[in-house]
Amino acid sequence: MRLLILGGTWFLGRALAAQALESGHSVTTFNRGVSAADIPGVQALRGDRERPEDVRRLAEHGPWDAVIDTIGFVPQQVLTAATALDHVVGRYIFLSSVNVYVGWPNESLSDESATFECPPDADADFGADLGYAGQYGALKAGCERAVLETIGEERAAILRPGVILGPQEYVGRLTWWLARASRGGQLLVPGPPDRPIQPIDVRDVAAFALDCATSGHHGSFNLAAPIGRATFGDLIDTCVAATAAGTRPMWVDPTWLVEHDVQQWTELPLWRTNMGVWNVDSSRAVDAGLRCRPLTQTIIDTWAWMTGGGAAITGTGEAARAADHGLPANREQALLDAWIARA
Ligand SMILES: NC(=O)c1ccc[n+]([C@@H]2O[C@H](COP(=O)([O-])OP(=O)(O)OC[C@H]3O[C@@H](n4cnc5c(N)ncnc54)[C@H](OP(=O)(O)O)[C@@H]3O)[C@@H](O)[C@H]2O)c1
Repeated sequence: MRLLILGGTWFLGRALAAQALESGHSVTTFNRGVSAADIPGVQALRGDRERPEDVRRLAEHGPWDAVIDTIGFVPQQVLTAATALDHVVGRYIFLSSVNVYVGWPNESLSDESATFECPPDADADFGADLGYAGQYGALKAGCERAVLETIGEERAAILRPGVILGPQEYVGRLTWWLARASRGGQLLVPGPPDRPIQPIDVRDVAAFALDCATSGHHGSFNLAAPIGRATFGDLIDTCVAATAAGTRPMWVDPTWLVEHDVQQWTELPLWRTNMGVWNVDSSRAVDAGLRCRPLTQTIIDTWAWMTGGGAAITGTGEAARAADHGLPANREQALLDAWIARA
Protein backbone atom coordinates (compact mmCIF):
# COMPACT_ATOMS: atom_id res chain seq x y z
CA MET A 1 0.00 0.00 0.00
CA ARG A 2 1.14 3.57 -0.68
CA LEU A 3 0.34 5.49 2.50
CA LEU A 4 0.43 9.22 3.23
CA ILE A 5 0.63 10.32 6.88
CA LEU A 6 -0.07 13.97 7.74
CA GLY A 7 2.32 14.39 10.70
CA GLY A 8 4.37 11.24 11.19
CA THR A 9 7.29 12.17 13.44
CA TRP A 10 5.82 12.40 16.95
CA PHE A 11 3.70 10.15 19.09
CA LEU A 12 0.88 8.54 17.10
CA GLY A 13 2.20 9.55 13.70
CA ARG A 14 5.57 8.04 14.51
CA ALA A 15 4.03 4.76 15.68
CA LEU A 16 1.96 4.69 12.50
CA ALA A 17 4.94 5.26 10.23
CA ALA A 18 6.99 2.59 12.03
CA GLN A 19 4.24 -0.04 11.82
CA ALA A 20 3.44 0.75 8.21
CA LEU A 21 7.09 0.36 7.22
CA GLU A 22 7.33 -2.92 9.17
CA SER A 23 4.31 -4.17 7.24
CA GLY A 24 6.05 -3.41 3.96
CA HIS A 25 4.00 -0.36 2.98
CA SER A 26 5.48 2.60 1.15
CA VAL A 27 5.17 5.61 3.49
CA THR A 28 5.16 9.32 2.74
CA THR A 29 5.06 11.76 5.68
CA PHE A 30 4.13 15.45 5.55
CA ASN A 31 5.26 17.84 8.30
CA ARG A 32 7.28 21.01 8.86
CA GLY A 33 10.41 19.17 10.00
CA VAL A 34 10.71 21.14 13.24
CA SER A 35 9.61 18.78 16.03
CA ALA A 36 11.49 15.52 15.59
CA ALA A 37 13.58 13.50 13.17
CA ASP A 38 12.03 11.52 10.32
CA ILE A 39 11.86 7.75 10.65
CA PRO A 40 14.43 6.22 8.28
CA GLY A 41 12.69 4.67 5.30
CA VAL A 42 9.86 7.18 4.82
CA GLN A 43 9.63 9.66 1.97
CA ALA A 44 9.58 12.89 4.00
CA LEU A 45 7.85 15.86 2.41
CA ARG A 46 8.02 19.27 4.07
CA GLY A 47 5.13 21.67 4.38
CA ASP A 48 2.77 23.41 6.78
CA ARG A 49 -0.83 22.21 6.82
CA GLU A 50 -1.92 25.71 7.81
CA ARG A 51 -0.74 26.95 4.39
CA PRO A 52 -3.17 25.91 1.61
CA GLU A 53 -0.45 26.28 -1.04
CA ASP A 54 1.72 23.70 0.80
CA VAL A 55 -1.17 21.23 0.94
CA ARG A 56 -1.98 21.70 -2.75
CA ARG A 57 1.70 21.14 -3.59
CA LEU A 58 1.62 17.95 -1.50
CA ALA A 59 -1.15 16.56 -3.72
CA GLU A 60 1.22 16.70 -6.71
CA HIS A 61 3.29 13.88 -5.09
CA GLY A 62 0.37 11.40 -5.13
CA PRO A 63 -1.41 9.13 -5.71
CA TRP A 64 -1.73 7.16 -2.46
CA ASP A 65 -4.05 4.32 -1.49
CA ALA A 66 -4.84 6.10 1.78
CA VAL A 67 -4.06 9.15 3.87
CA ILE A 68 -4.06 9.07 7.67
CA ASP A 69 -4.53 12.60 8.97
CA THR A 70 -3.16 12.76 12.53
CA ILE A 71 -2.96 16.55 12.80
CA GLY A 72 -6.39 17.98 11.95
CA PHE A 73 -7.58 20.49 14.52
CA VAL A 74 -9.24 23.25 12.44
CA PRO A 75 -12.14 22.38 10.06
CA GLN A 76 -11.14 24.95 7.43
CA GLN A 77 -7.65 23.41 7.21
CA VAL A 78 -9.00 19.85 7.05
CA LEU A 79 -11.44 20.94 4.34
CA THR A 80 -8.53 22.34 2.33
CA ALA A 81 -6.58 19.06 2.71
CA ALA A 82 -9.55 16.83 1.91
CA THR A 83 -10.37 18.91 -1.18
CA ALA A 84 -6.76 18.90 -2.41
CA LEU A 85 -6.23 15.19 -1.74
CA ASP A 86 -9.67 13.86 -2.76
CA HIS A 87 -8.57 12.85 -6.27
CA VAL A 88 -5.17 11.42 -5.21
CA VAL A 89 -6.12 9.24 -2.20
CA GLY A 90 -8.27 6.13 -2.07
CA ARG A 91 -9.29 6.49 1.56
CA TYR A 92 -9.13 9.22 4.21
CA ILE A 93 -8.61 8.16 7.84
CA PHE A 94 -9.10 11.04 10.26
CA LEU A 95 -7.81 11.08 13.85
CA SER A 96 -10.52 12.72 15.89
CA SER A 97 -11.23 12.40 19.64
CA VAL A 98 -13.91 11.44 22.17
CA ASN A 99 -14.04 15.18 22.86
CA VAL A 100 -16.43 15.47 19.88
CA TYR A 101 -19.17 14.17 22.18
CA VAL A 102 -21.25 16.82 23.92
CA GLY A 103 -21.59 14.46 26.90
CA TRP A 104 -17.84 13.99 27.49
CA PRO A 105 -16.67 13.77 30.31
CA ASN A 106 -19.91 13.64 32.25
CA GLU A 107 -21.87 10.85 30.56
CA SER A 108 -21.14 7.33 29.42
CA LEU A 109 -20.54 7.30 25.67
CA SER A 110 -21.27 5.02 22.76
CA ASP A 111 -20.46 5.39 19.06
CA GLU A 112 -23.94 6.88 18.67
CA SER A 113 -23.72 9.61 21.32
CA ALA A 114 -24.49 13.19 20.26
CA THR A 115 -21.59 15.24 18.90
CA PHE A 116 -21.01 19.00 18.73
CA GLU A 117 -22.40 20.94 15.79
CA CYS A 118 -19.67 22.73 13.87
CA PRO A 119 -19.57 23.82 10.22
CA PRO A 120 -17.03 22.00 8.01
CA ASP A 121 -15.37 25.29 7.06
CA ALA A 122 -15.15 26.79 10.56
CA ASP A 123 -11.95 28.62 11.47
CA ALA A 124 -9.93 28.27 14.67
CA ASP A 125 -12.08 30.83 16.53
CA PHE A 126 -15.23 28.70 16.36
CA GLY A 127 -16.54 27.62 19.79
CA ALA A 128 -14.35 29.96 21.81
CA ASP A 129 -17.15 30.18 24.38
CA LEU A 130 -17.05 26.41 25.03
CA GLY A 131 -13.85 26.36 27.08
CA TYR A 132 -10.65 24.58 26.04
CA ALA A 133 -11.95 20.99 25.94
CA GLY A 134 -15.32 21.98 24.44
CA GLN A 135 -13.75 24.09 21.70
CA TYR A 136 -11.25 21.32 20.89
CA GLY A 137 -14.16 18.87 20.62
CA ALA A 138 -16.37 21.17 18.57
CA LEU A 139 -13.54 21.88 16.12
CA LYS A 140 -12.78 18.15 15.82
CA ALA A 141 -16.48 17.59 15.02
CA GLY A 142 -16.21 20.20 12.25
CA CYS A 143 -13.05 18.46 10.94
CA GLU A 144 -14.95 15.16 10.80
CA ARG A 145 -17.68 16.83 8.73
CA ALA A 146 -15.09 18.36 6.39
CA VAL A 147 -13.72 14.86 5.67
CA LEU A 148 -17.08 13.12 5.34
CA GLU A 149 -18.66 15.79 3.12
CA THR A 150 -15.63 16.00 0.82
CA ILE A 151 -14.43 12.40 0.61
CA GLY A 152 -17.79 10.66 1.15
CA GLU A 153 -18.73 8.24 3.92
CA GLU A 154 -17.72 5.09 2.03
CA ARG A 155 -14.08 6.18 1.65
CA ALA A 156 -13.60 7.66 5.12
CA ALA A 157 -13.06 6.39 8.65
CA ILE A 158 -13.24 8.62 11.71
CA LEU A 159 -11.25 7.42 14.73
CA ARG A 160 -12.16 8.82 18.15
CA PRO A 161 -9.57 7.83 20.77
CA GLY A 162 -9.86 8.60 24.46
CA VAL A 163 -6.50 8.95 26.22
CA ILE A 164 -3.55 7.52 24.27
CA LEU A 165 -0.47 6.35 26.20
CA GLY A 166 2.71 4.49 25.33
CA PRO A 167 6.31 5.00 24.24
CA GLN A 168 7.00 8.52 22.92
CA GLU A 169 4.11 10.07 24.82
CA TYR A 170 4.84 13.78 25.11
CA VAL A 171 1.78 15.08 26.98
CA GLY A 172 3.31 14.06 30.32
CA ARG A 173 0.59 11.77 31.69
CA LEU A 174 2.02 8.28 32.15
CA THR A 175 5.55 9.65 31.83
CA TRP A 176 4.94 11.90 34.86
CA TRP A 177 3.67 9.03 37.03
CA LEU A 178 6.66 6.90 36.02
CA ALA A 179 9.17 9.69 36.62
CA ARG A 180 7.56 10.46 39.98
CA ALA A 181 7.47 6.79 41.05
CA SER A 182 11.16 6.51 40.19
CA ARG A 183 11.98 9.21 42.79
CA GLY A 184 10.80 6.95 45.64
CA GLY A 185 9.32 8.05 48.98
CA GLN A 186 5.66 8.44 49.80
CA LEU A 187 3.54 8.99 46.69
CA LEU A 188 0.28 10.93 46.86
CA VAL A 189 -2.34 9.03 44.84
CA PRO A 190 -6.00 9.92 44.25
CA GLY A 191 -8.33 7.21 45.49
CA PRO A 192 -10.07 4.93 45.14
CA PRO A 193 -7.65 2.30 43.76
CA ASP A 194 -10.52 0.44 42.12
CA ARG A 195 -11.51 3.42 39.93
CA PRO A 196 -11.68 1.99 36.36
CA ILE A 197 -9.53 3.61 33.67
CA GLN A 198 -9.29 2.82 29.96
CA PRO A 199 -6.30 4.45 28.25
CA ILE A 200 -5.37 2.88 24.94
CA ASP A 201 -1.85 2.06 23.75
CA VAL A 202 -0.56 4.21 20.89
CA ARG A 203 0.53 1.10 19.00
CA ASP A 204 -3.01 -0.32 19.18
CA VAL A 205 -4.46 2.93 17.80
CA ALA A 206 -1.86 2.81 15.02
CA ALA A 207 -2.67 -0.82 14.18
CA PHE A 208 -6.39 -0.06 13.95
CA ALA A 209 -5.79 3.04 11.81
CA LEU A 210 -3.68 0.98 9.42
CA ASP A 211 -6.41 -1.64 9.30
CA CYS A 212 -8.89 1.06 8.33
CA ALA A 213 -6.52 2.27 5.62
CA THR A 214 -6.17 -1.19 4.08
CA SER A 215 -9.71 -2.52 4.62
CA GLY A 216 -13.09 -1.13 3.79
CA HIS A 217 -13.92 -0.09 7.37
CA HIS A 218 -15.85 3.15 7.29
CA GLY A 219 -17.87 5.15 9.78
CA SER A 220 -16.78 6.38 13.19
CA PHE A 221 -15.06 4.30 15.87
CA ASN A 222 -14.45 5.05 19.55
CA LEU A 223 -10.99 3.81 20.52
CA ALA A 224 -10.52 2.96 24.19
CA ALA A 225 -9.50 -0.09 26.18
CA PRO A 226 -12.40 -2.21 27.49
CA ILE A 227 -14.34 -0.56 30.32
CA GLY A 228 -13.29 -1.87 33.73
CA ARG A 229 -10.36 -4.00 32.56
CA ALA A 230 -7.78 -1.82 34.34
CA THR A 231 -7.94 0.40 37.43
CA PHE A 232 -6.05 3.36 38.84
CA GLY A 233 -4.60 0.88 41.34
CA ASP A 234 -3.18 -1.19 38.45
CA LEU A 235 -1.63 1.96 36.99
CA ILE A 236 0.08 2.92 40.25
CA ASP A 237 1.13 -0.62 41.22
CA THR A 238 2.75 -1.16 37.81
CA CYS A 239 4.52 2.22 37.85
CA VAL A 240 5.89 1.44 41.34
CA ALA A 241 6.98 -2.07 40.34
CA ALA A 242 8.52 -0.99 37.01
CA THR A 243 10.58 1.83 38.51
CA ALA A 244 11.67 -0.31 41.52
CA ALA A 245 12.45 2.63 43.82
CA GLY A 246 10.58 1.36 46.88
CA THR A 247 7.88 4.03 46.41
CA ARG A 248 4.99 3.83 48.90
CA PRO A 249 1.59 4.95 47.53
CA MET A 250 -0.65 6.84 49.94
CA TRP A 251 -4.23 6.74 48.71
CA VAL A 252 -6.04 9.99 49.42
CA ASP A 253 -9.78 10.69 49.42
CA PRO A 254 -10.60 12.35 46.05
CA THR A 255 -13.14 14.70 47.65
CA TRP A 256 -10.44 15.98 50.00
CA LEU A 257 -8.12 16.54 47.01
CA VAL A 258 -10.82 18.51 45.18
CA GLU A 259 -11.41 20.61 48.32
CA HIS A 260 -7.68 21.34 48.37
CA ASP A 261 -7.75 22.58 44.77
CA VAL A 262 -5.70 19.77 43.29
CA GLN A 263 -6.25 20.06 39.54
CA GLN A 264 -7.68 16.94 37.95
CA TRP A 265 -6.20 15.77 34.64
CA THR A 266 -3.13 18.02 34.92
CA GLU A 267 -1.65 18.17 38.45
CA LEU A 268 -2.50 14.51 38.97
CA PRO A 269 -2.54 13.20 35.39
CA LEU A 270 -5.18 10.66 34.36
CA TRP A 271 -7.22 11.39 37.52
CA ARG A 272 -10.69 12.75 36.89
CA THR A 273 -13.81 12.20 38.95
CA ASN A 274 -16.39 12.84 36.16
CA MET A 275 -18.19 9.55 35.63
CA GLY A 276 -18.01 9.63 31.82
CA VAL A 277 -14.24 9.96 31.46
CA TRP A 278 -13.60 6.23 31.65
CA ASN A 279 -16.96 5.06 30.38
CA VAL A 280 -16.40 4.95 26.62
CA ASP A 281 -17.87 1.99 24.77
CA SER A 282 -15.60 0.97 21.88
CA SER A 283 -17.46 -2.17 20.84
CA ARG A 284 -17.87 -1.07 17.21
CA ALA A 285 -14.07 -0.89 16.86
CA VAL A 286 -13.64 -4.21 18.69
CA ASP A 287 -16.09 -5.81 16.24
CA ALA A 288 -13.99 -4.35 13.41
CA GLY A 289 -10.76 -5.83 14.84
CA LEU A 290 -9.44 -3.44 17.53
CA ARG A 291 -7.14 -5.27 19.94
CA CYS A 292 -5.95 -3.59 23.14
CA ARG A 293 -2.83 -4.83 24.93
CA PRO A 294 -2.88 -4.81 28.76
CA LEU A 295 -2.14 -1.47 30.45
CA THR A 296 0.74 -3.13 32.32
CA GLN A 297 2.49 -3.74 28.98
CA THR A 298 2.05 -0.11 27.96
CA ILE A 299 3.58 1.02 31.26
CA ILE A 300 6.53 -1.37 31.13
CA ASP A 301 7.33 -0.45 27.52
CA THR A 302 7.02 3.28 28.23
CA TRP A 303 9.45 2.99 31.16
CA ALA A 304 11.85 1.01 28.95
CA TRP A 305 11.64 3.81 26.38
CA MET A 306 12.18 6.53 29.02
CA THR A 307 15.24 4.79 30.43
CA GLY A 308 16.61 3.42 27.18
CA GLY A 309 17.53 6.67 25.47
CA GLY A 310 14.41 6.81 23.28
CA ALA A 311 13.21 9.96 25.02
CA ALA A 312 16.03 11.79 23.25
CA ILE A 313 13.68 12.36 20.29
CA THR A 314 11.68 14.66 22.56
CA GLY A 315 11.49 18.07 20.95
CA THR A 316 10.78 21.50 22.37
CA GLY A 317 7.03 21.41 21.71
CA GLU A 318 6.67 18.13 23.54
CA ALA A 319 8.57 19.36 26.59
CA ALA A 320 6.41 22.48 26.71
CA ARG A 321 3.21 20.47 27.00
CA ALA A 322 4.65 17.98 29.52
CA ALA A 323 5.59 20.93 31.74
CA ASP A 324 1.85 21.55 32.34
CA HIS A 325 1.44 18.13 33.95
CA GLY A 326 2.30 16.81 37.39
CA LEU A 327 2.42 17.96 40.99
CA PRO A 328 5.55 19.86 42.10
CA ALA A 329 7.45 17.95 44.82
CA ASN A 330 6.97 20.64 47.51
CA ARG A 331 3.23 20.84 46.86
CA GLU A 332 2.90 17.07 46.98
CA GLN A 333 4.73 16.97 50.32
CA ALA A 334 2.55 19.76 51.76
CA LEU A 335 -0.58 17.90 50.70
CA LEU A 336 0.69 14.63 52.18
CA ASP A 337 1.50 16.39 55.46
CA ALA A 338 -1.96 17.97 55.56
CA TRP A 339 -3.66 14.66 54.75
CA ILE A 340 -1.77 12.82 57.50
CA ALA A 341 -2.41 15.62 60.01
CA ARG A 342 -6.11 16.05 59.15
CA ALA A 343 -7.36 13.99 62.10
N1 LIG B 1 -2.66 12.13 22.78
C1 LIG B 1 -3.87 11.76 23.12
O1 LIG B 1 -4.14 11.26 24.25
C2 LIG B 1 -5.00 11.89 22.10
C3 LIG B 1 -6.28 11.54 22.49
C4 LIG B 1 -7.32 11.63 21.56
C5 LIG B 1 -7.06 12.06 20.28
N2 LIG B 1 -5.80 12.42 19.93
C6 LIG B 1 -5.56 12.88 18.55
O2 LIG B 1 -4.57 12.06 17.97
C7 LIG B 1 -3.89 12.81 16.96
C8 LIG B 1 -2.43 12.54 17.03
O3 LIG B 1 -1.92 13.17 18.13
P1 LIG B 1 -0.37 13.13 18.43
O4 LIG B 1 -0.31 13.70 19.79
O5 LIG B 1 0.20 11.82 18.24
O6 LIG B 1 0.32 14.00 17.29
P2 LIG B 1 0.42 15.55 17.16
O7 LIG B 1 1.23 16.05 18.27
O8 LIG B 1 -0.92 16.09 17.00
O9 LIG B 1 1.19 15.74 15.77
C9 LIG B 1 2.53 16.03 15.69
C10 LIG B 1 3.03 15.79 14.24
O10 LIG B 1 2.42 16.68 13.33
C11 LIG B 1 3.40 17.52 12.70
N3 LIG B 1 2.81 18.86 12.59
C12 LIG B 1 2.39 19.64 13.61
N4 LIG B 1 1.90 20.81 13.12
C13 LIG B 1 2.02 20.74 11.76
C14 LIG B 1 1.68 21.64 10.71
N5 LIG B 1 1.15 22.85 10.92
N6 LIG B 1 1.91 21.24 9.44
C15 LIG B 1 2.47 20.04 9.18
N7 LIG B 1 2.81 19.15 10.15
C16 LIG B 1 2.60 19.51 11.42
C17 LIG B 1 4.60 17.45 13.63
O11 LIG B 1 5.81 17.67 12.96
P3 LIG B 1 6.41 19.17 12.79
O12 LIG B 1 6.19 19.89 14.10
O13 LIG B 1 7.85 18.94 12.50
O14 LIG B 1 5.67 19.81 11.68
C18 LIG B 1 4.52 16.01 14.11
O15 LIG B 1 5.00 15.13 13.12
C19 LIG B 1 -4.30 14.26 17.13
O16 LIG B 1 -5.20 14.57 16.10
C20 LIG B 1 -5.02 14.29 18.48
O17 LIG B 1 -6.07 15.23 18.50
C21 LIG B 1 -4.75 12.35 20.80
